[in-house]
Amino acid sequence: MNFLNLLKKRESIRKYLDKKVEREKIEACLEAARLAPSACNSQPWRFIIVDDDDLTKKVGKATYSKFIPFNRFADAVPAFAVIVAQNRNLSSKFGGMVKDIPYHFIDIGIAAEHFCLQAVEEGLGTCMMGWFNEKEIKKLLEIPQKERIALIIAMGYHENQGPREKIRKDINSIRSYNKY
Ligand SMILES: Cc1cc2nc3c(=O)[nH]c(=O)nc-3n(C[C@H](O)[C@H](O)[C@H](O)COP(=O)(O)O)c2cc1C
Repeated sequence: MNFLNLLKKRESIRKYLDKKVEREKIEACLEAARLAPSACNSQPWRFIIVDDDDLTKKVGKATYSKFIPFNRFADAVPAFAVIVAQNRNLSSKFGGMVKDIPYHFIDIGIAAEHFCLQAVEEGLGTCMMGWFNEKEIKKLLEIPQKERIALIIAMGYHENQGPREKIRKDINSIRSYNKY
């Protein structure tokens, strides 16, 4: 697919069909994520795929609450990719400290987008989710308490109604050449 068209086709999907996602398709998304660049090539990520019916429901429930209900759609998500931040290598850690920029979270964002773009190629929808009960999900997936879950990606088949119009800032408000 033409790259810009692929980007336009990727959008957050919050309504999924009740259909299992084939592991081969998940593996293709993981391969795309694995190829992502990262600071000092530290690859500071681990992907936990949740595709067990009972567990996906439990993980879904841990992404919303009575007071913050906007992820309620996660009750009916066929699979999740839970991204756990991993130890950076020394140079990425040192660079991040000196520059006061958490490079590992930037790296994970790039890998997550690779994952989501490959999902489009596979005919799947995704939604990145930054809001969730981290403690509860760690318990469900036996993730050690000291680890951090950076992001969760919901994924599955969806009705293809064609992409929505993208709501984005005007190009003139986000770019300049040669000065701020
Ligand atoms: C880091 C990050 C966290 C996000 N967290 C959530 C979330 O918790 N729930 C949700 O429904 N969407 C979430 N989104 C999706 C954004 O709302 C969405 O990407 C944005 O509105 C642009 O829409 P589009 O993805 O359809 O192009 C998140 C996106 C990113 C990149």
